[in-house]
Amino acid sequence: MSNMLSTTAEFEQPPTDPIPVFNAWFATAQTVGLPNPNAMTLATVDDNGYPSARIVLLKDFDREGAVFFTNRLSQKGRALAAHPRAALLFHWDILDVQIRIAGAVIETTDAESDEYFQSRRRESRINAWASNQSEPIANRAALEARAVEITRKYHGIEIPRPPHWGGYRVALELIEFWRGDKFRLHDRVRYTRIDDGSYRITRLCP
Ligand SMILES: Cc1cc2nc3c(=O)[nH]c(=O)nc-3n(C[C@H](O)[C@H](O)[C@H](O)COP(=O)(O)O)c2cc1C
Repeated sequence: MSNMLSTTAEFEQPPTDPIPVFNAWFATAQTVGLPNPNAMTLATVDDNGYPSARIVLLKDFDREGAVFFTNRLSQKGRALAAHPRAALLFHWDILDVQIRIAGAVIETTDAESDEYFQSRRRESRINAWASNQSEPIANRAALEARAVEITRKYHGIEIPRPPHWGGYRVALELIEFWRGDKFRLHDRVRYTRIDDGSYRITRLCP
């Protein structure tokens, strides 16, 4: 038996390691025709304790954490500078599942940010320079004018990664798997990382 929490019966004896479970669920989400199975809600808290949430794309996932990329001067970047902790949420409605993740956040290395930045399409690299993410702008024309200006500036040459653009890695301190039941008696299992790097497993009421 795979014991990957792929059936409600498997929640009775959850695997000790949540990472392969996440990988298996994520792999399934990639087979059901979702346009962005890697889209996840990122929740942060600002320096006034005020929460905010938005979608970002998961770009890497392993034991070290869940990685996304963004503008570090954005609202989320400023919140993470003040409070380097975040929660992530996946909801794949068609599979009737939810995954919650939470943990401390660190910046990815410059090498990792460079590598991902250079893998993006040229237009996306230009727009990373053009958009002062989360700052006001007068209108669409002003935004497009900035993109044209950047396009001219880097015509025929490589576009460097903006210094304020990069990744964040959310540590996998908590991972919770939720599987829907048609009469609302859902299955939930929470993995909480302990000091030796293994996980304490707790079944929760739905
Ligand atoms: C499907 C989808 C994927 C997105 N992916 C990203 C992403 O990977 N990085 C990012 O900075 N913003 C992404 N965004 C935009 C964010 O949701 C958000 O509008 C933006 O990052 C500004 O957020 P902030 O002002 O809270 O910092 C995405 C939006 C959607 C709807």
